[in-house]
Amino acid sequence: MRSEMFDHLQKLSFSFYDENKTGQLMTRTTNDILAMTELYHHGPEDILISLMKFLGAFIILMYIDVKLTLIVFLFLPIMVIFALYFNQKMNVALRVSKDRIGDINAQVEDSLAGIRVVKSFTNEQVEKSKFVYANQRFVDSRRDGYRSETYFHEGLVGFTQLITIAVIVFGGAAIVGSSLVLADLLTFFLCVGILIEPIKRAANFARLYQEGITGFDRFMDILEVEPAIEDDKDARELGQVRGSVTFCEVGFKYKENYDYVLRNVSLDIQAGEYIALVGPSGVGKTTLCSLIPRFYETSEGSIMIDGHNIREVTQRSLRQQIGMVQQDVYLFAGTVAENIRYGKMNADMEEIIAAARQANAHDFIMTLPDGYDTDIGQRGVKLSGGQKQRLSIARVFLKNPPIIIFDEATSSLDNESEKAVQESLERLSRKRTTIVIAHRLTTVRNAQRIIVLSDDGIEEQGTHEQLMAHNGSYARLYNVQSEI
Ligand SMILES: Nc1ncnc2c1ncn2[C@@H]1O[C@H](COP(=O)(O)OP(=O)(O)OP(=O)(O)O)[C@@H](O)[C@H]1O
Ligand SMILES: [Mg+2]
Repeated sequence: MRSEMFDHLQKLSFSFYDENKTGQLMTRTTNDILAMTELYHHGPEDILISLMKFLGAFIILMYIDVKLTLIVFLFLPIMVIFALYFNQKMNVALRVSKDRIGDINAQVEDSLAGIRVVKSFTNEQVEKSKFVYANQRFVDSRRDGYRSETYFHEGLVGFTQLITIAVIVFGGAAIVGSSLVLADLLTFFLCVGILIEPIKRAANFARLYQEGITGFDRFMDILEVEPAIEDDKDARELGQVRGSVTFCEVGFKYKENYDYVLRNVSLDIQAGEYIALVGPSGVGKTTLCSLIPRFYETSEGSIMIDGHNIREVTQRSLRQQIGMVQQDVYLFAGTVAENIRYGKMNADMEEIIAAARQANAHDFIMTLPDGYDTDIGQRGVKLSGGQKQRLSIARVFLKNPPIIIFDEATSSLDNESEKAVQESLERLSRKRTTIVIAHRLTTVRNAQRIIVLSDDGIEEQGTHEQLMAHNGSYARLYNVQSEI
């Protein structure tokens, strides 16, 4: 089930991860499923043993004295109602406390992942109070749970004491009326004891069951989330493409009730063209690019690659044709070589080194303690910003797709490395469609076409010279930047 959960999580779309916290999802894949395994492991045994003991004791009791047995059994319906009621309460409390432990994990994950920011702002105390808050909420919910559990458990014990008293009273009366002998009454007591033990066991099972079933509910909650983007039933494989990308009146908003980020974007990118996308921050450049690999679904209009609507091909085959260097670089814990190999899992060492050279990363990699086998720490913390970026570029070089998207790929490089990466990017882009998003306009002067994005869609486009001559917003942006 844990594997199934993980597989499912891999299928879910960006929009799901926009809304859900990693810590919560981790709790669901670990804790909740653990509760279920407990139930599966101990549940059947508990049920079987209690049933057998209960039936056995019942038969012996009936054999000794029917009337007395019926008196004992008069208590059972009341006990069942009592148990069901508190079971229900336990269920609610457990569900809440599972959500809360998820909150704690999410909080810990957030604080630890951001530990460098925490320390630089010396906000350890703030993080601590956030944690204490989450923890306290968990304790509160747990307290409710324990309260119900206590009523449940001790209530049942109370009932069993009542049963014993009833047996003493009615059994005593029967002895006095000489319809029962003392030896039988003693046997009867013993058997009542045996009868009560399975009831306790059943109560324990009820707790396990509640733990397990709330875990199962939470498991199903995630499993029932349909991926926002799924392959069409008769989706085709997108073979090797030449790389033309066409936007037809594309409109996009992140959520139904949000404003449009993009509107009326129509754009024709020829195969092999080198396009630069510029515009103010927050205008939707990254968003526009994330629509091409179908990370998000367009709200209006359509996108074609080589004339194939991206909705009509499988996501896998589509994404194989596109290489992306994302704005916030993500590297995995592991070695340098492993991270580059991510671009092509069956690449050999020579290919990896070639890709690293192209991305101007080989030289710095060789200065690392273990070269390509150097461990780079979680998210690559042991590397500099520029080094991380070059690794992520090498990864795309290795993937070698016909369409490449570089999002601010050169922004944290020094001038020299930037030039080198720029060169290799231009070399790489020769036979490929390349879309570069850049803030520093000097880096995109050589682009075949510069597209200026504004809030109302594409504002102007053309070569650097054309746009400068046009003297519009690009010229303004460029002049401001070259003054600095
Ligand atoms: N996952 C998201 N959910 C909701 N809104 C988002 C999401 N990502 C971005 N936005 C919003 O969409 C708009 C465009 O964001 P985008 O990241 O595309 O800008 P950008 O042009 O790449 O900016 P920058 O140059 O700063 O990188 C922004 O107003 C942002 O607030
Ligand atoms: Mg961006």
